[in-house]
Amino acid sequence: MRTDLVLGLDEDDRATAGRLLTEFLDSYERSLSDRPLVPDVDRAALASLLENPFPDKGIGVEGLFREINGTIVPNSTAVAHPRFLAYVLGPPNGIAPHAEAIAAALNQNCNFWQLSPAASVVERAVVTWLSGLFGYGEEAGGILTGGGSIATLNALTTALHARRPDFRRRGLQTSDPQLVVYTSTEAHRCVDKAAAILGIGLDNVRHIPTDDQYRMRVDALEEAILADRAAGLEPFCVVATPGTVTTGSIDPIDPIADVCTRYGLWLHLDGAYGALFVLSDRVRDAFESAARADSIALDPHKLLFAPLEAGCLLVRDRADLTRAYAFHSSYLTVEEDDLMVDYMDHGPQLSRSFRAFKVWSALRAFGVDAFRSAIDHTLDLARHLADRVAAEPDLELLAPTPLTAVCFRIRNATEADHGAALATLVAEGTALLGPARVGGRHGIRACVTNYRTTRADIDLVVDRLAAIAGDFRLRSTVD
Ligand SMILES: Cc1ncc(COP(=O)(O)O)c(C=O)c1O
Repeated sequence: MRTDLVLGLDEDDRATAGRLLTEFLDSYERSLSDRPLVPDVDRAALASLLENPFPDKGIGVEGLFREINGTIVPNSTAVAHPRFLAYVLGPPNGIAPHAEAIAAALNQNCNFWQLSPAASVVERAVVTWLSGLFGYGEEAGGILTGGGSIATLNALTTALHARRPDFRRRGLQTSDPQLVVYTSTEAHRCVDKAAAILGIGLDNVRHIPTDDQYRMRVDALEEAILADRAAGLEPFCVVATPGTVTTGSIDPIDPIADVCTRYGLWLHLDGAYGALFVLSDRVRDAFESAARADSIALDPHKLLFAPLEAGCLLVRDRADLTRAYAFHSSYLTVEEDDLMVDYMDHGPQLSRSFRAFKVWSALRAFGVDAFRSAIDHTLDLARHLADRVAAEPDLELLAPTPLTAVCFRIRNATEADHGAALATLVAEGTALLGPARVGGRHGIRACVTNYRTTRADIDLVVDRLAAIAGDFRLRSTVD
């Protein structure tokens, strides 16, 4: 390492770092299917990271890569493994590590455009393309966020400012009626979390019951709104979920939008999981009325296979965003520009990373069709998984499979039995699936979110589960 530029790399070290990075990326990609899904955590090695963590004299580039390969990689979960079927967690696309490296080198501060002119336009291009997928018009805007939860928090903040123009000045110190948010019993907890953070309060979040396909019941929504109005409360926002986290059920957007129009409520779509299925011809119809929503949250770090973190909030009218988030300070002298956007006025952050770059790079490098076919591939595999489960006598589907989450159970198995089955799959290196509770019943959830997963992977998982379920049956017969 050179000593005159204490934090720089000299030519040799740059070459070494580049070579070691390329070697790492190559060997990681090749070894993915053979890696343990969940690492056999070496606690002593991890604990040693806490002891004297940082030396006065550095260990150099080669020393660092030795530690990365020896301690960090083997103790990391292989989320890109083709049979990692838990959660909605996609593997990063292939160009992502390279784009991330370039974004780090450029280190643009995506707050106002003079600090990041190209980045501002790249983010605008990503946001505009995403808005167009849902039929939003010229006035639409948005911002990349740390994820879907933050996008929904920012959406509810925007809705609050739109509802109560004096909210910025008076906060919640008003004598106005309490505001009420409506979502379904299947909604992601990020809706509750946003209401709690914003001071709306969990008591003012209504979890509307769902129908037999786990979709929000519009009749029950309207009843709840009327009851709250009669009680002197102020209904103000509905969060519908096109793609619930457990079963992938899609709330009916159009009739919910009708209710919102009738009662003057903000409609937010939590599309963190489901919204990007709009790219699939098979699911697009479900989003026909999405442009009626005031805001949409979605997650490029799920179905666009961007590495964490990349969420996005879209709003039908970007003036709503600036009303909530634009503040003026004398030391940030920003010249207005009709090409560039000052993203600090569209969200709560000032310093912001160049998140849009990894999304933009992948869309440019692979083209949109590649994403359409990756998404269709996951839909095909989920259908195949559901069909195979339905055909197995000892397994039983717990819900329909409109997207890529498949919920099922082992017949006559308890919650503990399901836990044991999941643990067996992990221990033998077959797959990582998650637990599920659907309609009050315990079971298993598999979510296909990986462009590397194949039909053979799905068959292996179902074959093993059928065998484990058969063992349970025999055991319970003997008992
Ligand atoms: C419907 C839904 N909303 C919100 C989230 C949270 O998104 P994030 O983890 O990006 O904050 C998820 C995550 O899976 C989700 O499925």
